[in-house]
Amino acid sequence: MHILVTGGAGFIGSHTVVALVEAGFKPVIIDNFSNSEPRALEGIEKILGHSVPFYQANCDDADLLREIFEKEQIGGVIHFAAYKAVGESMAEPLKYYRNNLGSLITLLEVMVEKGVPNLIFSSSCTVYGQPDQLPVTEDTPVKPAESVYGNTKQVGEEILRDTIGSGNPLKIIGLRYFNPIGAHPSAHIGELPLGVPNNLVPFVTQTAAGMRKSLTVFGGDYPTPDGTCIRDYIHVMDLAEAHVAALQKLIDTPQSNYYDVFNVGTGQGNSVLEVIQTFDKISGQEGLPYVIGARRAGDVVAVYADATKVNAGLGWTAKRNLEDALRDAWKWQKTLG
Ligand code: WQD
Repeated sequence: MHILVTGGAGFIGSHTVVALVEAGFKPVIIDNFSNSEPRALEGIEKILGHSVPFYQANCDDADLLREIFEKEQIGGVIHFAAYKAVGESMAEPLKYYRNNLGSLITLLEVMVEKGVPNLIFSSSCTVYGQPDQLPVTEDTPVKPAESVYGNTKQVGEEILRDTIGSGNPLKIIGLRYFNPIGAHPSAHIGELPLGVPNNLVPFVTQTAAGMRKSLTVFGGDYPTPDGTCIRDYIHVMDLAEAHVAALQKLIDTPQSNYYDVFNVGTGQGNSVLEVIQTFDKISGQEGLPYVIGARRAGDVVAVYADATKVNAGLGWTAKRNLEDALRDAWKWQKTLG
């Protein structure tokens, strides 16, 4: 089956393209390189031994989407393409609502028009805010978003629910990611943060590579065992394989109108200091230089998944651990020079 992967040159998208091919699917990438680089396509080709059909375009171009659906015989879509910088989303809300929600609406309209039923939507654990209980299940109440970015994920899920609720012949799964980290073990693809990384692991690897003087740990006085925030860090290849499992679930689903959401995490929480300690263990270098600084606005204290539903519902379980992910992230960083 030909699968349109929007944002397929991005971090999670590129790894999912590889996993799709390895599972026998035929991905087609659409990406505008707003948060990715052409080198990701070269890396995918090195891993697969062949290129993947690619369109450099925005996902809100309905006419182009129609053309691609027809020309490439698209049978399903995995929708990654969205802006995702939490801080930037607060400074430029309309840019985020226009892009993240406008593209989703256009995509849904073309899918209904073309009779393409299968859609995987890239959502996020950020919809839970600071959960009242841990680990987080899919029944944990969604809380008012703490950022415009997070709200685009919440409203995106509402758009999906309402589109299905009106009886459209669509089968949709929303995947709520926890914290994707790491890189393909070949080190041909990985995370390419633009500018100074917002996220922890690319900042760790850039510090270890000498690109950053030291890491600032945002807060050491949280109510956690070592005072630093806890997250569920999932290897990007495990996350990629969860998308393939979700797609297979849609294909195997007999009803024509279906919607569900799944938490995609390891079920294991790790603190910032544990990430640093684990990195020191795998890098073989002197201890990573870091300082404990002020808390970062908007951070939740702890969030990690209860993976029961995704394990049972998709037959998927994370196979890689924090060490594997940090080892692959470090191997990738060293190729970046
Ligand atoms: C993890 C922990 C920081 C950098 C974000 C988005 C989420 C998703 C994943 C898109 C926190 C601490 C970080 C640093 C630090 N993105 N940290 N020093 O914030 O959990 O999730 O990325 O879907 O939507 O919100 O990830 O990697 O930024 O932070 O101490 O230099 O590392 O305070 O506790 P986060 P993160």
